[in-house]
Amino acid sequence: MKLDVVLGLQWGDEGKGKIVDVLADSYPVIARFQGGPNAGHSLHFEGNKFVLHSVPAGVFRENTINIIGNGVVLDPIIFRQECEAIEKLNVPIKKRLKISKKAHLILPTHRIIDAANEAAMGKSKIGSTLKGIGPTYMDKTGRNGLRVGDALSENFIDRFNILKNKHIAFLKQYDFQYDADQNEKEWLEAVEYLKQFEIIDSEYVINDLLKHGKCILAEGAQGSMLDIDYGSYPFVTSSSTVCAGACIGLGAAPSTVGKVYGIFKAYCTRVGSGPFPTELFDKTGEELRQRGFEFGATTGRPRRTGWLDLVALKYAIMISGVTELIMMKSDVLDTFDTIKIATEYLINGKATDQIPYDTYAEIVPVYKEFKGWNKDLSSAKDDNNLPAEFMQYIGFIEKETGVKISIISLGPDRKQTIFRNE
Ligand code: GDP
Ligand code: IMO
Ligand code: MG
Repeated sequence: MKLDVVLGLQWGDEGKGKIVDVLADSYPVIARFQGGPNAGHSLHFEGNKFVLHSVPAGVFRENTINIIGNGVVLDPIIFRQECEAIEKLNVPIKKRLKISKKAHLILPTHRIIDAANEAAMGKSKIGSTLKGIGPTYMDKTGRNGLRVGDALSENFIDRFNILKNKHIAFLKQYDFQYDADQNEKEWLEAVEYLKQFEIIDSEYVINDLLKHGKCILAEGAQGSMLDIDYGSYPFVTSSSTVCAGACIGLGAAPSTVGKVYGIFKAYCTRVGSGPFPTELFDKTGEELRQRGFEFGATTGRPRRTGWLDLVALKYAIMISGVTELIMMKSDVLDTFDTIKIATEYLINGKATDQIPYDTYAEIVPVYKEFKGWNKDLSSAKDDNNLPAEFMQYIGFIEKETGVKISIISLGPDRKQTIFRNE
């Protein structure tokens, strides 16, 4: 059976949590493959809202196996808080969730390094979520990291102290006040909590499930334009957010990949620093923020907003070989008279349809204008009765990208979802 992959194609927060929760109905296994608690994936169902940070979005579905893969970085404190909140809803999470031995642990000192680093960068800061993601992946690739499986070994506390002391030495370069012992007790207790879960050799479990006919849905975090290689470096996260990252982060061979669902908002948002060519600083941008309730699910920061960027979208589709598009938050555009899509960039007066290498290039987007549909779409049930202006908008995106939009989301709730041509 196949590994289908859900990816954000923009700068994160496209609505991956909602879509994974919706699709989880037809997948027996959901697996996170990269990122960590920098993610905030929101789910709305039966009148409730839930934001997940480390736990896969299949956890609310009965009979679903959820796996935190080896590519993920895990903060035991945040993980415990999240799981205990889920347990309060009578969800038997310890039965539904398995964790890879090879997932790396975020230590309290990783978070301190993140904060010290951002503070030292001043105006040129990345705008990190300050969850310790970058420093943890640095230790992973630097071959210093501690993994979930290490928590099972007898000398775990010694290894923890060795890494903590390395961090204290590293922090000497910064003029930054901190308490290295802060949260340590809570962290070690949270590691004990973590050990109550099934800690697995996830690459074997995943390949076994595939071999035995189970389809797996891989849940991406962040978005393609935040990818460590293909995003606007250095304003990126520290993991591979593109399709290939699902293979690395789960131990599934590229030949097992089936559908690649690419999720995008009908417009764009970004939280944190870095280029955003179609960003709007006017009242239209504010209207998008208010109507889309564009405030970070992890940090609460207001998200930057702008029109859809086809140059970036096509790039993300190319890198991941997206086979189906899913358009989110279409309802947010319901009130606009004119809607724009950037089709190419002008850089130094020259037109291009490629993302420039130079992160600091001055980009002037070239827009195509569309007439707005001016109709409340939030309760539409199928695409037969959607306004002609809306169909023109999505038809243009499909023609330009060459990929079908197979799902349209018209509101945060599970039910506000249209599956096209079913
Ligand atoms: P994720 O990180 O990709 O899972 O996305 P987030 O949860 O951070 O942000 C998406 C936000 O949009 C959440 O508040 C969702 O509840 C909300 N949302 C998802 N789909 C839709 C939609 O189609 N319409 C509207 N209005 N909101 C949506
Ligand atoms: P989900 O999964 C939006 C952004 C941060 C910052 C940059 C680096 O909810 O879509 P990091 O904490 O990784 O060092 O931050 O990446 N970022 C996200 N933006 N959604 C996310 O996750 C993000 N995770 C990280 O704002 O600009
Ligand atoms: Mg989010």
